[in-house]
Amino acid sequence: MSHSRIPGFYKFSVANRLQLLYERGVIGEAEYHMLMDGGQVMNVDTADRLVENVIGTFSLPMGLGLNFQVNGKDYLVPMVVEEPSIIAAVSSAAKLIRNSGGFESRADEPLMIGQIQVVGLTHAARAQQALLQAKEEILNLANSLHPNMVARGGGARDLEVHLHGEVDGHGEMLVAHLLVDTRDAMGANLVNTMCEGAAPLIEKITSGEVFLRILSNLTDRALVQARATIAVDALADNGYSGEQVRDGVVLANEFARMDPYRATTHNKGIMNGVDAVAIATGNDWRAIEAAAHAYAARSGRYQALTRWYRDDDGNLAGELTLPLKVGTVGGQVQSNQAVLLAHKVMGIESAPELAQVMTAVGLAQNLAALKALSTEGIQRGHMTLHARSVAIAAGATETQFEDVVERLIAAGDIKVWRAREIIAELEADQGAANAAQNSQDAPTMATPTQPEPSTGTDAGFGKVILLGEHAVVYGQQAVAAALPLTIRASVHAQDKRVDLVIPRWGVEMNLDEAGGKLSSLQKSLKLIIERLGVADQGMQIEVFPHVPRANGLGASAALAVAVIRAMARCFHVAISEREISDLAYDCEKIAHGTPSGIDNTLATFGQPILYSKTQAAARIRELKPARSIPLVIGLSGVQTLTAQTVARVRDAWQRNPVRYNAIFEQIGRLADAGAKALEAGDLAELGDLMNIDQGLLNALQVSSPEIEELVQIARRNGALGAKLTGGGGGGAMIAVTEPEQTTAIAGAIRRAGYQAFITEIC
Ligand code: MEV
Repeated sequence: MSHSRIPGFYKFSVANRLQLLYERGVIGEAEYHMLMDGGQVMNVDTADRLVENVIGTFSLPMGLGLNFQVNGKDYLVPMVVEEPSIIAAVSSAAKLIRNSGGFESRADEPLMIGQIQVVGLTHAARAQQALLQAKEEILNLANSLHPNMVARGGGARDLEVHLHGEVDGHGEMLVAHLLVDTRDAMGANLVNTMCEGAAPLIEKITSGEVFLRILSNLTDRALVQARATIAVDALADNGYSGEQVRDGVVLANEFARMDPYRATTHNKGIMNGVDAVAIATGNDWRAIEAAAHAYAARSGRYQALTRWYRDDDGNLAGELTLPLKVGTVGGQVQSNQAVLLAHKVMGIESAPELAQVMTAVGLAQNLAALKALSTEGIQRGHMTLHARSVAIAAGATETQFEDVVERLIAAGDIKVWRAREIIAELEADQGAANAAQNSQDAPTMATPTQPEPSTGTDAGFGKVILLGEHAVVYGQQAVAAALPLTIRASVHAQDKRVDLVIPRWGVEMNLDEAGGKLSSLQKSLKLIIERLGVADQGMQIEVFPHVPRANGLGASAALAVAVIRAMARCFHVAISEREISDLAYDCEKIAHGTPSGIDNTLATFGQPILYSKTQAAARIRELKPARSIPLVIGLSGVQTLTAQTVARVRDAWQRNPVRYNAIFEQIGRLADAGAKALEAGDLAELGDLMNIDQGLLNALQVSSPEIEELVQIARRNGALGAKLTGGGGGGAMIAVTEPEQTTAIAGAIRRAGYQAFITEIC
């Protein structure tokens, strides 16, 4: 059986996952084609033979639980379940446990209990004795009814007799328990046949009357126990120390041991995993459920099925005991191709082995839930899940999917209509990128022609300065990159009036009526209208901002670029990319006084750049990062005006140019080295440079208490480098990190009460 660790499995397409399983020998060619073509789905004729009144079949997703190692053996665990995150959560808990030595799991003999109810007894205690004395005869009779099971090493093993007291009108009730080892079969039919076959003999021995003869689903003679110990250090996650997570899990478990309301949810979480494997392997999950809950209430009070505790070495130890009688042979396996396939993938050799793995799955599922609940809460996970199903419902393609999910969560508005809007934006982005590519050499501005209704939206990119802000105003170099976050705009021609609508910012105004002192936004729009030569046109300008404003992330330049593009498109004004950038620069001057020119360049071209500007001209070198750079952005919640911090630094520089020039030069050298690090894909070096730059920005006194807190949180949670970005004085903090750390950093920032985004520069 191949190794159950398959890093990045979730990122592959379904076809690639199957290819990988085939290459690893987990499935053969026949199974590969079956899964590719959906041949494992039960056909209606088979279904019609299984149950009554068939009108069709019904599908559920089947996924693989990864990372399982039970009693030293690796398992890929097929799970059939419709609830998102169950499989991801169990795989991640199994990985934690695997890294601490894996699961130990042991199973009792696979015994089932058959019950024979006897009433109408004249002397119940005597009947009980008589039955016990005739035990061998009863067992022999039962076994004679199933010689095959005996040949396979199973069969009726023991007889127990219980007295239950008086039943109205029937005297004392006696119940005989026939204990049957059903080996790898689920054994329900076999046990029922034995009970029915033994009933006449039991009536004869007891002189009573046998009433019910049926198996019991409380399979507490087939107990299975899985155990795991997780090194406390390995539990540290998302800004929580290993000790905090361990104690949280133990406390959450105590809650479920004491409180039946919590125990029910706790056990439901365990059964999320157990049932999913039961369904995939063709087992009777209703029977398994019934047994589990009855067992949970065996003390007379319904309790948690797991026990988590701190062991003598301070590690987290846990165990789950379940009454679990499952089958690996029989009709329920043979009649369903998907079940046969699941057995093949799992590589199970016996029913007790399957029960051991299922119990390990239950334990891992419970750990995942308790860990999430006692740290960041399940809600964030559930939001992701909800966003995933909404993205599917809205029709996101494979390539759009993760973006749509990410943006839905960032927007905090997880609705199908919103997902559709995002999909439209992504499609327009793609269109714009293609158009930008095609229009590198577009002709310069021409006279406007007849307007036509604008279709879709146009975009300007937000940006981050990785290194070099403030110094860049004094001719030094800066490294900056566009963000996948954009501001989008659409322009529709209309009669005379010029209306501006920005729903997200609550802006709705008629630009012609804007009297008195114009805002910088109004002035910028008027400038764009004038420069594009469309002052005699009526239009509605709609803006959809996805870059937070006044945070040093280039929102004003992105807005200008988006509006220029949309307006030019609506009125057929041919305009080159360079002209878009230059016009956006003029808008930026209205907003910021003496901007460096970085924001409009990035908003237009969307490429990482090394930028410098002398009196005469801007020098731009496109940078090609060797790898994508994971980035976490934290918002301080304090809006800032770049013009103000730039002016403050200018005052200080004017008072002491020599001292401040020395700082600017150092920042410039960091930017130069940063460009090299970016192109070499050296995250550690880039992070180092950013940390030093933050020190120098502190020297310029442009940081703020909130930014300092964000920087510390990011560094404590594994950031390689963290600093303010843009003008400072509030605004945003950026942290560069390895991809695995992004969620931990963003989580810690959110817990401290700030907003955080995960993004990347490519
Ligand atoms: C959700 O399907 C399962 C959980 O509610 C289990 C639990 O609360 O332990 C997360």
